Amino acid sequence: MARVGVVGLNYWGPNLVRNFDDLAELAWVCDLDEERLATLAARYPQARASTSIDELLADETVDAVVVATPVPTHYALAKQALEAGKHVFVEKPPAMRAAEMDELVRIAADRDRVLMPGHLLLYHPGVEKLKALVDSGELGEVLCVYGNRQNLGIVRTNENALWSLGVHDLSVILYLLDEDPETATAQGRDFLTPGVEDVVFCYLRFPSGKIAHMHLSWLDPHKMRKLTVVGREKMAVFDDMELERKVTVYEKSPWKRAETYGEWQTRSGDIYIPKISTAEPLRLECTFFLELVDGKHDRAKVARDGARVVRALEMLTESLGR
Ligand SMILES: NC(=O)c1ccc[n+]([C@@H]2O[C@H](COP(=O)([O-])OP(=O)(O)OC[C@H]3O[C@@H](n4cnc5c(N)ncnc54)[C@H](O)[C@@H]3O)[C@@H](O)[C@H]2O)c1
Repeated sequence: MARVGVVGLNYWGPNLVRNFDDLAELAWVCDLDEERLATLAARYPQARASTSIDELLADETVDAVVVATPVPTHYALAKQALEAGKHVFVEKPPAMRAAEMDELVRIAADRDRVLMPGHLLLYHPGVEKLKALVDSGELGEVLCVYGNRQNLGIVRTNENALWSLGVHDLSVILYLLDEDPETATAQGRDFLTPGVEDVVFCYLRFPSGKIAHMHLSWLDPHKMRKLTVVGREKMAVFDDMELERKVTVYEKSPWKRAETYGEWQTRSGDIYIPKISTAEPLRLECTFFLELVDGKHDRAKVARDGARVVRALEMLTESLGR
């Protein structure tokens, strides 16, 4: 059983601690904040506790490190852990610049270690279903994908809507289309906190001609967590706010009747709701990481896919800045 240390124990870290305690051997918990550390250490007395990642990395019996600290710290901590020979699960995104991410990917490859970004949605059974619909050709040629991730608050003051919300949709869009965008532009406004965009619209265009869009916002009357995939034959919607119909497939498409003069008509058929597993995405994500550590799956691809997300984020960030 892998021995795992978790670094960063405030809001998200305890969820990872809970899962790795169930699925692996929780060997260490670590946070700079002594109070948070003491709270978690009391809950998991079998794990050793430290305010310094150095202590955890010096423990040769530790196989893997999980990083759930603020985004600007990810790159340095992940690099340190990889250089110490540990497998690394790092919350999204693992780096804020493409060059830094490429460096992490290289170090992981050189040392044959796992570098897995925590793109939780990729392990969501609903997203798995969307991917199956795209890859099986059931939707026909995919034309465009768009994501809505909106609600009123939580207004963050240190991360804009692109970095906080957009990274989720971006990881799914790139996973579904399996291409790097040739164009990625973003426009937004910082209505509440100067310099921190709370409303962002993104447009991506891919070499195949497919296009994607994301509406990301903390200023909205609706809480939306939705991705729509438009194919030539069918269309599919993944709606994470729904309990029982996470994915809906619409047999709707544009259609040209042979006997007309080439005008487009629309075809509307059945609407169906495929069965989606209710397994907890975080549990599936943690299990996948442990399987990677175990030598299953393609660990190089997981790291490369993470780099693709950071590259696109960088393009969008540069555009937003302009
Ligand atoms: N996948 C998801 O759905 C999801 C959801 C929420 C947060 N996250 C990610 O999880 C990460 C943590 O988010 P959060 O909201 O818990 O952040 P947070 O700022 O509330 O907590 C981060 C913790 O890390 C600790 N820390 C900072 N630097 C450290 C260091 N060098 N060594 C040890 N501890 C250190 C801080 O003391 C703090 O307790 C972020 O990257 C965030 O993007 C992911």
